[in-house]
Amino acid sequence: MINDLWYKNAIVYCLSVGTYMDANGDGIGDFTGLMRRLDYLHGLGITAIWLMPFQVSPQRDDGYDVADYYGVDPRYGTLGDFVEFTHAAEQRGIRVLIDLVINHTSNEHQWFKEARKDPNSKYRDWYIWSKKKPSSANEGMVFPGVQKSTWSYDDEAKAWYFHRFYEFQPDLNTSNPEVQAEILKIMGFWIQLGVSGFRMDAVPFIIATKGPDVRKPEEQYDMLRMFREFLQWRQGDAIVLAEANVLPDTDLEYFGDDGDRMHMMFNFQVNQNLFYALASADTRPLVKALKATKPRPATAQWGLFLRNHDELDLGRLTEEERQTVFAAFGPTKDMQLYDRGIRRRLAPMLDGDQRRLELAYSLLFTLPGTPVIRYGDEIGMGDDLSLPERNCARTPMQWSNEPQGGFTKSEKPRLPVISGGPYGYEHINAAIQRRHPESLLNWTERIIRMRKEVPEVGWGDFTVIPTRDPAVLVMRYDWRNNWVLFVHNLDAKPREVTFSVGLDGDNAGYGKLLINLLAEDHSRADDNGKHRLVIEAYGYRWYRVGGLDYLLRRTEVDEPLHPKRG
Ligand code: NOJ
Ligand code: CA
Repeated sequence: MINDLWYKNAIVYCLSVGTYMDANGDGIGDFTGLMRRLDYLHGLGITAIWLMPFQVSPQRDDGYDVADYYGVDPRYGTLGDFVEFTHAAEQRGIRVLIDLVINHTSNEHQWFKEARKDPNSKYRDWYIWSKKKPSSANEGMVFPGVQKSTWSYDDEAKAWYFHRFYEFQPDLNTSNPEVQAEILKIMGFWIQLGVSGFRMDAVPFIIATKGPDVRKPEEQYDMLRMFREFLQWRQGDAIVLAEANVLPDTDLEYFGDDGDRMHMMFNFQVNQNLFYALASADTRPLVKALKATKPRPATAQWGLFLRNHDELDLGRLTEEERQTVFAAFGPTKDMQLYDRGIRRRLAPMLDGDQRRLELAYSLLFTLPGTPVIRYGDEIGMGDDLSLPERNCARTPMQWSNEPQGGFTKSEKPRLPVISGGPYGYEHINAAIQRRHPESLLNWTERIIRMRKEVPEVGWGDFTVIPTRDPAVLVMRYDWRNNWVLFVHNLDAKPREVTFSVGLDGDNAGYGKLLINLLAEDHSRADDNGKHRLVIEAYGYRWYRVGGLDYLLRRTEVDEPLHPKRG
């Protein structure tokens, strides 16, 4: 098999234009500013950018309330600036993914304005209405505690409309073929302007049946195939990365049994269990999540992440597990959100301890999938809990110790730059960290570089190797006659583990030698073929199995990859 599925081994960096770099000094980041930082991103080694929504929007949900899908919000620049940006990214070999927010629009979108004004408008049926208040109006809120209902009365329409999210985000009637055609048109438009795909927002809600009489929404999975077919007919290497926080037994419905639906999905299951593992030093539920999410078509890929722009959603853990994570990483009420999650950034959760940050990132880069990192996490940025809801973790990028962290010349950025305290821009910033070889920024650059040299993680098949110690995770990847092996100690204490690499037959001999890719301490097996390692608190090891002649040994064909369900 010749591999040209770029997303299987990409390094994705997510950012929002408005908080990255403000070139014109109005306090809001813009495309011109972002373009000036492309060399920074190129140097970091990332291969794709996921841009949060930048289309015209009243910005009541940070752009996830779109008022015009075909335009750039003037605060961020023009369509011309956008095309300059995608061109400049392409020149550096960086792909651009953008958010596609089509479960709902802003209530200021022209479609909604016409729909509410005129019952005979063609747009009326683009939304979901009810003459009477539906009995389910107080059920199914995504933002409990902030959002009061899922149906609101509109005075102008004299009817109730459905909104899965905030009341200013009326749901589109995504079962309506005209709405579907418009969604494809939106994708076609941005593809033409140079993007390589979409992070599709709220996928389970897009494909759900909606309406006043719908008691139990049903997913219409085949809609996903329609999105994918359109994309690939237009541009063969374009992808969809789905935001779908779903249970593992429906994963294949999203990927499609034959890999004919979503190319990628975020692995929420692994994300939540990974935080539990970091909180408890018990990797057993994480291993379970890895195994439960293992079956997938060969062309599909997981998007792995630690933190994103939303709260860390712990809704899929058991009550006891969730309380363990809260106690470790978000003990006070102001750190928690929507009764299910933690709204902090990664660095403060881990006490700014670089050993723990490296451990977390080392796991992110070596678990099965494509890593998605969040802007600012490469320098260990903090949060501002005085800001409402999820805004606390959306503050401007900290570039230097100059005023406003070098983000803007304005004295009043739209969201304040974090200043003072342990995470203030005065000492947490990119400029200082690039001067220190051991800084998190330089570590991240080096680990990305190494991650690119272990394509086994993205392409290969994994095995969890038993160690009898739940605090230590040992994983091996196999691909094209090569093997890599990773060891992570999630405990605050050093551990000693014994394991065998587990290769059989002709390959067994290779398992006797583990070459450390990041330091000098290699490991040789004892006479029984066992490796014995002492691994320091929060330690991690990246090994090549059998020696560094791996490229000379690589074969041209794949072993059968990822067995399917059943
Ligand atoms: C998921 C996004 O990640 C979140 O930020 C947003 O509020 C909702 N979808 C609604 O679009
Ligand atoms: Ca600006």
